Amino acid sequence: MHLVKSTFVALVAGFFSSATFGAGVGGYVEDFDFSFEGPLGTYDQTQLQRGLKVYTEVCSSCHGLKYVPLRTLGDEGGLGYSEEQVRAYAEYYEVYDAELDDYRAAVPSDHFPAVVDAGAPDLSLMAKARAGFHGPYGTGLSQLVNGMGGAEYIASLLTGYTGEEKEEYGSVFYENTAYPGKWIAMAPPLYGEDVDFDDGHANDLYSEAEDVAAFLMWAAEPKMMARKHTGFVGVLFLVVLSVLLYLTNKRLWAPIKKGRVST
Ligand code: HEC
Repeated sequence: MHLVKSTFVALVAGFFSSATFGAGVGGYVEDFDFSFEGPLGTYDQTQLQRGLKVYTEVCSSCHGLKYVPLRTLGDEGGLGYSEEQVRAYAEYYEVYDAELDDYRAAVPSDHFPAVVDAGAPDLSLMAKARAGFHGPYGTGLSQLVNGMGGAEYIASLLTGYTGEEKEEYGSVFYENTAYPGKWIAMAPPLYGEDVDFDDGHANDLYSEAEDVAAFLMWAAEPKMMARKHTGFVGVLFLVVLSVLLYLTNKRLWAPIKKGRVST
């Protein structure tokens, strides 16, 4: 009896402690409502387009997206740009062409460039790399409903600066409530009104942070919708199969249960 009880206590304790670690070792992550959360959530095309603008005009000077092919900006379920729009956007970047041994304007078949000079990490997979956060309720299960958390972490990071700075070994660090360890070497990249949107959409700090976080979630997981869809169809299939098996089983055993079997 004692053993059962202590095993139970250990299990419960383990569950809760791993949940606390999941919540981002020290950093405070706010729960943002993203359109792509939940089993049927989808990306908001115009939000991704705004996020791309924030990335292009603010983040791309320091951060690359080297694993993201430019042509995917035309994908359905993502930003959905036309071929001409993708081509026009690609020209904004210069890439090194080994054949020409020179730089040339990028084309849709190139990837976003890598940026190495700023000492900033590549953001292609960042939203997935920081997905450890399990939602504000602290259980792994809530990921299902509240999303993976990587986009939340990025939005919280961009809005989590306190304004405090300190200098250590000749580098400046900025206090940030979302960053594990609290002091980050990235100066606040967004203050609000950093970009202007053509449709006059809100460009305060929170809107910009959410938009670029959504865009980076898409960059790390462009096929999230397809994956969710497959999962949904899979579950539906299993439900139908279970009902059929149950009915079959009932029918097969019915004569025996009624005692009408003749041997
Ligand atoms: C002036 C250069 C600069 C700009 C502009 C910039 N960053 Fe950073 N960023 C950095 C550096 C440097 C780091 C590494 C910080 C560290 O390790 O302390 C970093 C780190 C990060 C991280 C990783 C944090 C972690 O958990 O390790 C994210 C996410 C990020 N930046 C997002 C962005 C976004 C989104 C933008 C645009 C809105 C942006 N950054 C603009 C320099 C920049």
